Amino acid sequence: MTSSVRPLVAGNWKMNGLAASLAEARRVRDALSKSGPADVMICPPATLIAELAREAANSPLLIGAQDCHAAASGAHTGDISAEMLKDAGARAVIVGHSERRSDHGERSSDVRRKAEAVHRAGLTAIVCIGETAGERRAELTLSVVGRQLAASLPDAANAGNTVIAYEPVWAIGTGLTPTAADVAAVHKFLRGALVARFGGTGGAMRILYGGSVKPDNARELMAVPDVNGALVGGASLKANDFLGIIAAYGA
Ligand code: 13P
Repeated sequence: MTSSVRPLVAGNWKMNGLAASLAEARRVRDALSKSGPADVMICPPATLIAELAREAANSPLLIGAQDCHAAASGAHTGDISAEMLKDAGARAVIVGHSERRSDHGERSSDVRRKAEAVHRAGLTAIVCIGETAGERRAELTLSVVGRQLAASLPDAANAGNTVIAYEPVWAIGTGLTPTAADVAAVHKFLRGALVARFGGTGGAMRILYGGSVKPDNARELMAVPDVNGALVGGASLKANDFLGIIAAYGA
């Protein structure tokens, strides 16, 4: 049903990267071809967006951002708006990442407001959800991600302006991953919820898997039904590793 969805492999650099790190992004850019089988995006820290967007112009490499404030502008020292990220050259914004939820106490209602801000700016929201280790042990995974999905997505979400990223908290940065069968069960459940709420466009929305995706497990994870790409943390910082993951799609 979703095999026609074009995959997206997105790198989340988190709070990593100085100007010198752009060399890795350039190597990714130069290795991509316009007819490649997947969209490829790098979400560097905000300080590097404008420079990387300039360097990636007229290339297949897409540039995204990490997090934004819900307002377009105003007295919010240190915050950054979706409009500013767009102005710098970002095409998408990651919202609701588990590190934002845990470090900054963000709730799904906050995430929804941020996703609405991303849409207001005309960008794509990459909305992250995922269960903790304790929730998985208690067999609460589907109810937790179902609640997060329902409460984090704006009603105006569609396949063009929204990407879902399923990232089990316990798999992020740990080297642990769910089995392919476990990933399949969650993605099937999410697909059903998206179709039930949004109809046809919910069937076409990309659902990424994230959490310890590496070159040596990407092929198996990306082959899971309803996995439409990956959100990659640590392995996106090195061009060789990131390109090794993209190669799961034969790029
Ligand atoms: P790792 O790939 O480092 O586990 O991080 C995943 C992630 O949080 C991407 O947003």
